[in-house]
Amino acid sequence: MAYNTNDIFNNELSLQYDACNGRLGEIIDNMHMLISLLLNNLPEQAKILCVGVGTGTEIIRLARFHPQWHFTGIDPSPDMLAVCSEKLTAAGLTDRCQLNLGYLSNLPVTADYDAVLCLLVTHFIQHPQRDGIYTQMYRQLKTGGRVITAEIAGDIHSPLFNEHLEVWRVMHETVSQKPQEATAIMAMLTQRLLLLPPEQTETLIEQAGFSPAQRFFQSLLIHGWTARKVA
Ligand SMILES: C[S@@+](CC[C@H](N)C(=O)[O-])C[C@H]1O[C@@H](n2cnc3c(N)ncnc32)[C@H](O)[C@@H]1O
Repeated sequence: MAYNTNDIFNNELSLQYDACNGRLGEIIDNMHMLISLLLNNLPEQAKILCVGVGTGTEIIRLARFHPQWHFTGIDPSPDMLAVCSEKLTAAGLTDRCQLNLGYLSNLPVTADYDAVLCLLVTHFIQHPQRDGIYTQMYRQLKTGGRVITAEIAGDIHSPLFNEHLEVWRVMHETVSQKPQEATAIMAMLTQRLLLLPPEQTETLIEQAGFSPAQRFFQSLLIHGWTARKVA
């Protein structure tokens, strides 16, 4: 399976991404509300690393409540970053955001981040890189720092999985009102994503050195975890 996803996150999708994601309204809003609560006690001048920052949703949502936080975003898609950059400019956030084109492994290890966010990204990462991504996040954090990661997950061998998948398809068809769009999303999910059982992701997070992963969010196939870098 291909590792590079720039054929998916191309110019066309990057321009539509926020509108498509916005259709999942309450699901995405709820996840971000919980993330905001989890991060609420960070220092006033916290440094946040956003892996797979895409069009910058997580930066825009957090920055308005935390005027002194600094954000670093990294993403391999130039098209997604172009949209992100425009949005950060429009929101007046460029002086406290730095965007990097590439993968997390390209970023110098500073170990000075208070939090690392990786939202809706890891399901695109195949083996063997999948295990290593949590170790790379761990290295970037200060001791005591927090990781927050969310991905599409599920045990594809469980009898319940096909039921969840069907609800996922119906959801996309309902919100888009376009059966062909739902079909394309389902094709991408089965052909390009690597879905792991949630327990396996929890094991990978712990194996990277983090405290036991706490599952703070689940809505259908989207699962979210948080854990801390322990000394
Ligand atoms: C579904 S978008 C999520 C964007 C944003 N985090 C959000 O929640 O809206 C996935 C993003 O991950 C990026 N991506 C894909 N593979 C990646 C990898 N191996 N490392 C970092 N980012 C990756 C894609 O370019 C894309 O911008």
